[in-house]
Amino acid sequence: MDISTDFLGFKLQNPLIASASPLTASLDSIKKLEDNGISAVIMHSLFEEEINHEIDQIDHFLHLHSDSNAEAITYLPSEVDFGNLQADHYLEEIRRVKAAVQIPVIASLNGVSAGGWVNYATKLQEAGADALELNITYIPTSIDMRGDEVERMYIDTVSMVAQHISIPLNIKMNPYFSNPANMAKRFVDAGAKGLSIFDNPTRVDIDLELLSPLRKANITTSANVSETLRWCAILYRKLSCSICANTGIHSGTDVLKCVMSGADAAALASVLLIKGESEIKKILVNIREWMEKHEYESILQMKGSISLSHTDNPSAYERNSYMYALQHYHR
Ligand SMILES: Cc1cc2nc3c(=O)[nH]c(=O)nc-3n(C[C@H](O)[C@H](O)[C@H](O)COP(=O)(O)O)c2cc1C
Repeated sequence: MDISTDFLGFKLQNPLIASASPLTASLDSIKKLEDNGISAVIMHSLFEEEINHEIDQIDHFLHLHSDSNAEAITYLPSEVDFGNLQADHYLEEIRRVKAAVQIPVIASLNGVSAGGWVNYATKLQEAGADALELNITYIPTSIDMRGDEVERMYIDTVSMVAQHISIPLNIKMNPYFSNPANMAKRFVDAGAKGLSIFDNPTRVDIDLELLSPLRKANITTSANVSETLRWCAILYRKLSCSICANTGIHSGTDVLKCVMSGADAAALASVLLIKGESEIKKILVNIREWMEKHEYESILQMKGSISLSHTDNPSAYERNSYMYALQHYHR
């Protein structure tokens, strides 16, 4: 039985990828992920704010001494001082991880604007990253900002990053667009070689003791896989790029559903945070057993078999399934 798959131009031994999370933030846990059978890792993100902090610091020092005399140059911090900053740590981490594991290592940049921070994409490539994932999730809070302006910001950022690198670029999308399929197409036109469908941004809550809003990491369950399946199914074979199912994938059956919807790979975070790295082995056993029982010989054979263009029930992915689901609800 062949459970290998192609993703971003890499031949992966199986469809399971570790998505960005604290489990991909240390060499030890990345090695554990590899030992348990994960086929690629997406590193925890380097955030635009962390990089801009460095740029702001440099600007601050340069501005501080711009009116001083020539000797003022000696006040400027040495390169060693900058070497302690977050972004440089991240580059060093990539070098260490790359030297220690065999599987593809995908760096992750997380930001929204097409600013100077995108130059870091080149540094991540030089540090040895096999590919780059860009997570752009912008929550517009201005009621004057139009949807097309938000979309333009996304596309500008993607094309700017794509121009800086030669390694494959994967865009971790969110579903908050009037037409996510059109945005997916525009991301690919702007240079994306793969799409992760979808990001699952932080949740907002309110602490009634502190009387303050809170941001919480969003731990999912299999119930959250629905939109992942829908949009993988809609996009299958519509674009020349890889598709990674992302959000709500907790079991072998979830992975099989994603592949049948049209995904090339399936990214996991919550399930591994809850159950530990050893769950990867169980999910792989689960996939193999199901395939054997149903006489499938390869992942390729089942890919996209229940996508929008292949299913005999396309309405399940469309609006009128809402009417059907309501009319057939039983208590
Ligand atoms: C604790 C935690 C930390 C995360 N850190 C990142 C991150 O650094 N960058 C990123 O793009 N996504 C991050 N994510 C999102 C995950 O990569 C993933 O997209 C999301 O959790 C949905 O997948 P899941 O249903 O398997 O959890 C994080 C998620 C969790 C729960």
